[in-house]
Amino acid sequence: MNEAVQTSSDFTPRVFSGIQPSGGLTLGNYLGAMKRFVQTQETGVQSIYCMVDLHAITVWQDPEKLRNATRELCAGYIASGLDPKKSILFNQSQVPEHAQLGWIFNCVARMGWMQRMTQWKDKAGKNTQNASLGLFAYPALMAADILLYHATHVPVGEDQKQHVELTRDIAAKFNHDYGVDFFPISEPVIEGAATRVMSLRDGSKKMSKSDPSDASRINMTDDADAIAKKIRKAKTDAEPLPSESKGLEDRAEARNLVNIFAALNDQSIDQVLADVGGKQFSEFKPMLAELAVEKLSPISGEMARLMQDTKEIDKILQDGALRAREIATPILQETYRIVGMVG
Ligand code: AMP
Ligand code: TRP
Repeated sequence: MNEAVQTSSDFTPRVFSGIQPSGGLTLGNYLGAMKRFVQTQETGVQSIYCMVDLHAITVWQDPEKLRNATRELCAGYIASGLDPKKSILFNQSQVPEHAQLGWIFNCVARMGWMQRMTQWKDKAGKNTQNASLGLFAYPALMAADILLYHATHVPVGEDQKQHVELTRDIAAKFNHDYGVDFFPISEPVIEGAATRVMSLRDGSKKMSKSDPSDASRINMTDDADAIAKKIRKAKTDAEPLPSESKGLEDRAEARNLVNIFAALNDQSIDQVLADVGGKQFSEFKPMLAELAVEKLSPISGEMARLMQDTKEIDKILQDGALRAREIATPILQETYRIVGMVG
């Protein structure tokens, strides 16, 4: 693979990230992505957050549910603390430059690179012949999302690291093949205690909105009772909690609950264990449930309130798309010029 010809430090810092409107938001999305987006926004760096509806349809989406999920995701972003005046919030399909740059990158990325993507392998399953072509090309569109804005930093959960690395490879190959220093080599930002929130039923599986078991996840729309019940029923082991993080090795379920506590409470794992080390789960789980309800209820309440006025949400998305296009249009035009398109 080509050497990076340029580093992201040569570009003005800009943050881009996206979430698929492919169902309800989970605690994994909140801790691994949204909560961190809000922290980034507060640093004052220009931040762009997208509802990636074009990515969502790489697997079947019922049109009415997709529309609702896109608006609900926008409400979730705002309820979590993103300010549509400070950050740019929009849905991907409304900025056609994403699909246009995505095509160029389909011609830069190699089949072999895409075949190595673990998310492709997981999502396509055994029957790859029946998966959509879009699912295979998904990471090239994600590279377009990021590079269309010359984004230097991409806050994501652990599962997206490989896709951001592919984005770097695409940028480097484009720059090398055309002899330019045009695209930045973007950095994944994977920080904090909850970059990989696991299923409450199986500590080896990621908490996911597509898991068939609702008990495996906390949804951002769950009420206090549902949250408490799911935490009470979460799988654990019979040992008390350790006093140091070393004691969580080989205890995936215990580690997951401690990570969630730490991330919700803005503490390190060691700080949490200093307080709860030695406690049984029968004591720790109610503490976690109380904390989760305290932190999540205001967000779900605000989401429900915002969803009552979908016209206002649509206005926010339209305004965001206009502002996104102001950045994206000249970058796409310059890409076309570099590639040799007449126009
Ligand atoms: P998705 O819902 O797959 O579009 O993911 C949107 C963002 O949430 C990405 O940055 C993911 O890495 C992050 N994310 C999703 N699930 C989890 C999880 N269980 N733990 C941490 N981050 C997650
Ligand atoms: N692939 C990401 C996910 O499933 C969503 C995504 C699409 C994204 N485009 C992006 C994330 C650009 C960060 C930057 O979670």
